[in-house]
Amino acid sequence: MPATPAKHDALVADLIDAVGAPHVLVDDDERAGYEIDWTGRYGGPCTAVVRPGSTNEVAAVLPLCARYGACVVTQGGNTGLVGGSVPRPTAPFTVVLSTQRLDAIGEADPDALQVTVGAGATLAAVRDRVAALDLDIPVDFAARDSATIGGAVATNAGGSRVVRFGTMRHHVAGVRAVLADGSVVGSLAGLPKETAGLHWPSLLAGSEGTLGVITEIRLRLVPTFANTATALVAVDGLSGAARLAGRLRCEVPSIDQLELIEPEAMRLVTGHLGRSMPLAVPPGGSYVLVECADRRDPLDDLTSALADPATAGVIVDALVTTDAAQRRQLIEHRDRLTEAIAADASASGTPVFKLDVAVPLDRLAELVSIARTAAAADGARLIPFGHVAEGNVHLNYLDTSDTERIAATVLTAVADAGGTISAEHGIGIAKARWLPLIRSAGERRASNAVRAALDPGRLLNPGVLDPGVPEA
Ligand code: FAD
Ligand code: MLT
Ligand code: ZN
Repeated sequence: MPATPAKHDALVADLIDAVGAPHVLVDDDERAGYEIDWTGRYGGPCTAVVRPGSTNEVAAVLPLCARYGACVVTQGGNTGLVGGSVPRPTAPFTVVLSTQRLDAIGEADPDALQVTVGAGATLAAVRDRVAALDLDIPVDFAARDSATIGGAVATNAGGSRVVRFGTMRHHVAGVRAVLADGSVVGSLAGLPKETAGLHWPSLLAGSEGTLGVITEIRLRLVPTFANTATALVAVDGLSGAARLAGRLRCEVPSIDQLELIEPEAMRLVTGHLGRSMPLAVPPGGSYVLVECADRRDPLDDLTSALADPATAGVIVDALVTTDAAQRRQLIEHRDRLTEAIAADASASGTPVFKLDVAVPLDRLAELVSIARTAAAADGARLIPFGHVAEGNVHLNYLDTSDTERIAATVLTAVADAGGTISAEHGIGIAKARWLPLIRSAGERRASNAVRAALDPGRLLNPGVLDPGVPEA
């Protein structure tokens, strides 16, 4: 329901009282960038964008929105890929709560290996700040310059370092958040151990803005590893990629990334970068990008593991380097893939259709084959790549005509293989209707009960994580 003009004006006036006029955006051109997602596929109008500057201001804003019955979509860097960071077209009385001003970064504690950051601080800003202490952030991905720590917690983001350090939820030593009624919950003490009932970091990581607004995070850090070696390896196929990943994880303790690039993806990104293919693969082959990082030079470990008979059997060719410029070039083949896909989609005029799935490693080859068949049946182009150690493949469909049919085919196959329909991007709006494929009615009822307890008016990110089917 759209708000009446009187209700809209009254809410805006109260929001201005709470955070100050410069931080309540109501003009069309000021709101526009907050109303459309990164892919251009999702979005809708909002009544206002509000940019609180502190936890207390967030605690003032949420009860106001509840009083007027306005939905609240929390937005960090707006790099989410499942439509959860932007208003729904069907809920125009929505306030976008931007965390942009919650971007303070505290002093890192080099003994505890922790830092307290505002939810709106970007990954890159935190990484740059802690570098002086020889510390680093354990989560990294290509959207690092815009994606926020709060957004990464809310989506339980993954990225390239999961193989070494795990997903974002493993790095939240403490959290402060505001519930729909304005209650402030959580702690930033960063205690490595505490068993005292409900654990807010566990509850909020991956909740995609449906349970509360995360305002501050006590983030775990890792050492900086100054010595790096990078390899681009051409292998005989996806099973070979999985075999290589397993062997390297056993033989090379400094493995920091094991990334999958299928030939269609390599062709697209090299075209985008104006380069030629760095290595040839045979039909059915794949590429694996390997990054090692350590306190001592990891090159010998890496080269001897690549020469090991157990891996040599699947390797077709390899480029290995420790040279900074050459490493950067190799890594760009993986890091700039999402950008290359977006550029292609923008040139063709049809937004990319993204699936982010994971299956047990021994089912990966079969799943990608089903995904390719679904593309061919639709007349679409498939660009597959991902994080090989986790069986996580990003299936990017370009020039689609029937995305529902593609999703039905692929996501059903994923569920049948014992996999997940969202490995790291979240469920958002995009995958909500497919949630019953991987969550039972009992599980969905339990999730709904938690959500109803924390947000009885269901104002926080409506539609996200919600299959929209009445729960029997
Ligand atoms: P937004 O997009 O603003 O929001 C995402 C979701 O989190 C929304 O549901 C929103 O409501 C909620 N949210 C945001 N902030 C808060 C908060 N403070 N409190 C409560 N809820 C909040 N993701 C990966 O996991 N791995 C990757 O490798 C990866 N690579 C990417 C590469 C590119 C080029 C792009 C564009 C995206 C990539 N992503 C990846 C997806 C995206 O960057 C992540 O999901 C990221 O964590 C989103 O952060 P954000 O600040 O942009 O959040
Ligand atoms: C990645 O691994 O690069 C991301 O998850 C982004 C994407 O899927 O496009
Ligand atoms: Zn990814």
